[in-house]
Amino acid sequence: MMKICILSGNPKKEGLCQSVIDAAKLGVSEGGAEVDEIRLCDLELIRCKVCGNGWGPCRSENYCNYGADGFDEVKARIQMSDAIILASPVYWGEPSEAFKCFIDRLRRCEFNQTEVLRNKQVLLIASAGGTGNGLISCLEQMDRFCRHTSAIIFDYIGVNRWNSDYKRLAVKSAAHALASGRKNDDTV
Ligand SMILES: Cc1cc2nc3c(=O)[nH]c(=O)nc-3n(C[C@H](O)[C@H](O)[C@H](O)COP(=O)(O)O)c2cc1C
Repeated sequence: MMKICILSGNPKKEGLCQSVIDAAKLGVSEGGAEVDEIRLCDLELIRCKVCGNGWGPCRSENYCNYGADGFDEVKARIQMSDAIILASPVYWGEPSEAFKCFIDRLRRCEFNQTEVLRNKQVLLIASAGGTGNGLISCLEQMDRFCRHTSAIIFDYIGVNRWNSDYKRLAVKSAAHALASGRKNDDTV
C-alpha cells in the first residue's frame, strides 16, 4: 500500500488549517493510501545550530549532530513515504516557525546526496487565515525546499477564509489523485 506523509506546521487541533489537513487525509485514504501525519509543533525539535563555520556533518556525511532530538525519526518517516504533503498555516507570509526549523535542517542533510525526497511527489498547501496575504511567499519557501531536496512538486494550493469551501475540495481531490498514483507527466 502506498504511504503518504503529511508534514504539518499547524499547532492547532481545529480551525481552518486543520480542516484543510483533514480534507487531505480523507483524500489520501479514499485514494487507497495510508496516511502518516507528522505534527511538527508537537515535537521539541531544536533549530539548526549552524555547526562549525556554517556546516557540520550535514554537508559531508548527511546527518545532523542533534538528530536524536526527534529529527532523525521524522526524517525516517518521510523517507519511508512514497509521496509527501507539506501543509502549514501562513505566519508572517511564511510557513510556521516549527515547520521552517525542520526544513532548515533537512535540506542541509540532503545537500550532498538527496535521498529523503528525491523524485517524490510533493503537494504544497498553505493556509492564510488572517488577511489572506502571504500565501505566495509561503508556498514559495516550500517550493525552494523541494528544489533543494530534488522533490517533484505536484501542485500548489493556497487556502484563505473566503475560498476555503472550494479549496478544501481541491485539497481533497489533489490528495486523492496523489494517493491513486497520478504522476506529474500524466494528462487528465
Ligand atoms: C504569528 C502569526 C502570524 C500570522 N500571519 C499571517 C499572515 O501573514 N497572513 C495571513 O493571512 N494570516 C496570518 N496569520 C493567521 C494564520 O494564517 C491562521 O491562523 C492560519 O491560517 C490557520 O487558521 P486557523 O488558525 O483557523 O487554523 C497569522 C497567525 C499567527 C499566529
